[in-house]
Amino acid sequence: MRLLLVGPPGAGKGTQARRLAEEMGVPHIASGDLLRAAIGAGTKLGLEAKSYVDRGDLAPDVVVVRIVSDRLTEPDASAFVLDGFPRTKEQALALDNVLAKLDLPLEQVIHLEVPDDEIVERLAARRYCPECHRAYHMLHDPPRSDEVCDDDGSKLARRPDDEPHTVRHRLAVQYHEPIGPLLNHYKDRGILVSVEGVGTVEEVAERVAKVAEEFR
Ligand code: AP5
Ligand code: MG
Repeated sequence: MRLLLVGPPGAGKGTQARRLAEEMGVPHIASGDLLRAAIGAGTKLGLEAKSYVDRGDLAPDVVVVRIVSDRLTEPDASAFVLDGFPRTKEQALALDNVLAKLDLPLEQVIHLEVPDDEIVERLAARRYCPECHRAYHMLHDPPRSDEVCDDDGSKLARRPDDEPHTVRHRLAVQYHEPIGPLLNHYKDRGILVSVEGVGTVEEVAERVAKVAEEFR
């Protein structure tokens, strides 16, 4: 199964993609996680992306397309759950090219829909694990032990781009502006499904699993 999750920042793409990828036994490939890892490691691509990520702007296509396509050409990536890339129609065309060369076309796109106000609230209470990238919400999806990752014991951190004014900016430039043409691209191919992203993590996971199952 080769599946893509799209949606606004804080929609729960990472939370749901991680679970789905685990269930399907395939890698979870998240552009944001790959970018933060490159920034943390101080690579050339990471340095090029850093100021954009800090401001909540889209990182340049050359950087994002390169980072994601490098990951997609690794041997374990014949099936995957992709999260956060593409987010513009131009990026979708670039991804189509990469996957056509690998003969691994995208099979399903799930659009997680969540209203803006809920997103600002979610991201204000988000913590994430800098090691494994797992996201928590201090009220709705907290770690078992305060501020420590359940999976690897790392100290949880806040993302600098989760400040409310940066979140509003991310919503405007990375979601509301580009989402229409991106969704139309996949609608025309008949592989787009929308899923209501409001509800508990479990409720949303059940909806996502159900539509993913129908496509298999
Ligand atoms: P990225 O890391 O992808 O950020 P994003 O798209 O803004 O999405 P988030 O990771 O913030 O949210 P999410 O949907 O994964 O939600 P999560 O599961 O964590 O990208 C970061 C930056 O990199 C971008 O700003 C940009 O600069 C750059 N970038 C990345 N991709 C790019 C691209 N393609 N092109 C150009 N630049 C790119 O959940 C959020 C919170 O809500 C958590 O606290 C979680 O616990 C909680 N939560 C989840 N589900 C629920 C629920 N059902 N109810 C209540 N709380 C919930
Ligand atoms: Mg994420």
